[in-house]
Amino acid sequence: MAEGRRTINTDIEKFLSSENYKYKINEPLSKHTTLGIGGDALFFVEVETEDKLVSLLNFVKENKIPFYIIGGGTNILFSDDGFDGIIIKLAIRNEQLEIDNNVLECVAGEFLSVVAKQTAEQGLSGLEYFVGIPGTVGGAIFGNAGVKEHAISDNLIKIKIIDFDGNKKFLDRKDINFQYRKSGLENCVITRAFFKLKKAAKNGILDAIFQELEKRKNSQPQGVKSAGCVFKNPAGDSAGRLIDSLNLKNYNIGEIEVSSKHANFFINKSNGTAKDMSALIEFVKKKVFEKYNIELETEIRIIKR
Ligand code: EPU
Repeated sequence: MAEGRRTINTDIEKFLSSENYKYKINEPLSKHTTLGIGGDALFFVEVETEDKLVSLLNFVKENKIPFYIIGGGTNILFSDDGFDGIIIKLAIRNEQLEIDNNVLECVAGEFLSVVAKQTAEQGLSGLEYFVGIPGTVGGAIFGNAGVKEHAISDNLIKIKIIDFDGNKKFLDRKDINFQYRKSGLENCVITRAFFKLKKAAKNGILDAIFQELEKRKNSQPQGVKSAGCVFKNPAGDSAGRLIDSLNLKNYNIGEIEVSSKHANFFINKSNGTAKDMSALIEFVKKKVFEKYNIELETEIRIIKR
């Protein structure tokens, strides 16, 4: 390792330990993604408070250190070579949900499924459709996650963010350019979210939750290593349907396989690699383009070293 690099790494370590961050060196990213893929992150830091996040963002900015922020690690493909900088994992959670006049305020690091169930238990409707979406509230807002007719942005009132200069501010929904599976919130960290919910009969909401989970169980692979839907749906169609129509279910490259249950999910059967995942993505894109003249766009984010 070059002398300059070693000095930077020592400085990072000094900062992290002196400020009592929870961190690891050379941490396998495969342990932090639902796909179970990814080489080592030079530094992996779990941040549990907004103030610690601000200090860390200031530090990486001042020292020009590459960084990347993750929530639940659900929608992401890291390289087999890992990440040559700091991965910041947002672990600001376990706060009591605050509900006032049917407005829910919650920390962005909380799991969406947990928030969906807790609001349902209180007879509040609006988030029940998202009960089966893996990952955190912040991650879901970042990717404008959703199901068929509903997106997480639908009931959103505002969010609290920290920008990459370390400034905390609020953004109203109308000032966020939400599109299908897109928020444009690339240059900030979402730390809190406020949703407008509606009072409704608890039984009805719990029933909707049950049905949503049943539907997922029947149509999507469960309990396997995947990153959710690989591709966005092209306008008016389903990427899964298109891939399936080419008989590509179970097609594999190395340990990565097109799910037999839903063709827009790729499964890591055991120790699959990012190289094979990328090869399968390219192969499927090529096949769909050849047959339908449709250019599939990935929904999962691909992060280079
Ligand atoms: N289909 C097939 N074969 C397949 C998969 C689907 O023929 O292998 C057909 C289905 O039978 C159905 C149609 O395609 O007629 C649509 O399938 P589905 O209802 O599963 O919905 P989808 O469009 O494939 C979208 C979202 C999912 C979300 C579901 C359910 C995207 C890219 N996908 O899938 O979201 O869970 O609707 O609401 O928007 C995600 O974004 O990560 C995701 C999984």
